[in-house]
Amino acid sequence: MSLLITGIGELVTNDPGVGEGPLGLLRDAALVLDGDRVAWAGPAAAAPACDESHDVAGRAVLPGFVDSHAHLVFAGDRSAEFAARMRGEPYAAGGIRSTVAATRAAGDEELRARLHRLVDEMARQGTTTVECKSGYGLTVADEARSVRIAAEVADEVTFLGAHVVAPEYAHDPAAYVKLVGTAMLAACAPYARWIDVFCERGAFDADQAREVLAAGAAAGLVPRVHANQLGPGPGVRLAVELGAASADHCTYLDDGDVAALAGSSTVATLLPGVEFSTHRPYPDARRLLDAGVTVALASDCNPGSCYTSSMPFCVALAVREMGMTPGEAVWAATAGGARALRRTDVGRLSPGARADVQVLDAPSHLYLAYRPGVPLTAAVWRAGRRR
Ligand code: NIG
Ligand code: FE
Repeated sequence: MSLLITGIGELVTNDPGVGEGPLGLLRDAALVLDGDRVAWAGPAAAAPACDESHDVAGRAVLPGFVDSHAHLVFAGDRSAEFAARMRGEPYAAGGIRSTVAATRAAGDEELRARLHRLVDEMARQGTTTVECKSGYGLTVADEARSVRIAAEVADEVTFLGAHVVAPEYAHDPAAYVKLVGTAMLAACAPYARWIDVFCERGAFDADQAREVLAAGAAAGLVPRVHANQLGPGPGVRLAVELGAASADHCTYLDDGDVAALAGSSTVATLLPGVEFSTHRPYPDARRLLDAGVTVALASDCNPGSCYTSSMPFCVALAVREMGMTPGEAVWAATAGGARALRRTDVGRLSPGARADVQVLDAPSHLYLAYRPGVPLTAAVWRAGRRR
């Protein structure tokens, strides 16, 4: 079944071979979906005939957002922690343990229901590709259950047993690191493509992170790293050294970190919802872009540091607070996320891509930053199916 989307005022293809500039922009355009794929993108006047058609009346059409960093398998509530933070309490990695206790106590059905609710919430805001991490179980059985449930709905699953040291191992972190890299990894690897570590003071140091990521790589998982979120540290260099797909947060960087990222294929994934929700300075996206680093934007949706699932909100923050142009921010939230997940089939709307389409109730992508907080998602297709 083919579908012609017509009346597109502005089409963001993210394919410079199809349209103008890095966003591959076309005006007065049409798009053809065939089954779960994009079959054609071009000027409306040249559109082929299709089985069905859908007129978007001059609205903007973009690739669905690729949210490359989220923690969605959890139970519990940390709204009081947020309120305390807004009164001046600092954010600390230790808060993760309260979600661990609630997650361990929850049944599979509760975790599944919460996950589905969040993925639906994301889809309603234009997100069509979701990465989901474990990291609130921290036992072999609870981490395995987290990645198994995540794999039921997420496009990409990441094993994050090294989120913090499990409370039972508080007096023997080395034994916990060993557990993560052996029995826990063995139980989780069948459900995951990626392995992640929270490399930060209060979580894991560079040697511990290296041990976990090397074990993951030996099991066929590809590294990504929570790096330089709460202060300067070794995370970004480690990510580059290990050829990680992405270094995430990148809030506190020195010139050496920026140079290392610029000379690598590691994407800098910026998560401005975290800085919004933890009262911290925003990462300097302009500095990274000017150095030639590939930048992605993601939500980091999680119950502690950032409980937003909204990619439009992240785009607006990136433009207002991080020196990105609206075009750079939209690219980072779509094509950038795809790069961070090493996917070539999402984050673009040109022939062969998965048919992941969002229609904005607006004439151009600029409105995502120009109208912050306004629900602009008019329609979404994921793999050719209307949501
Ligand atoms: O990406 N930094 C580590 N993990 C999450 C926060 C998790 C939590 O506070 O529950 C993050 O910010
Ligand atoms: Fe995170």
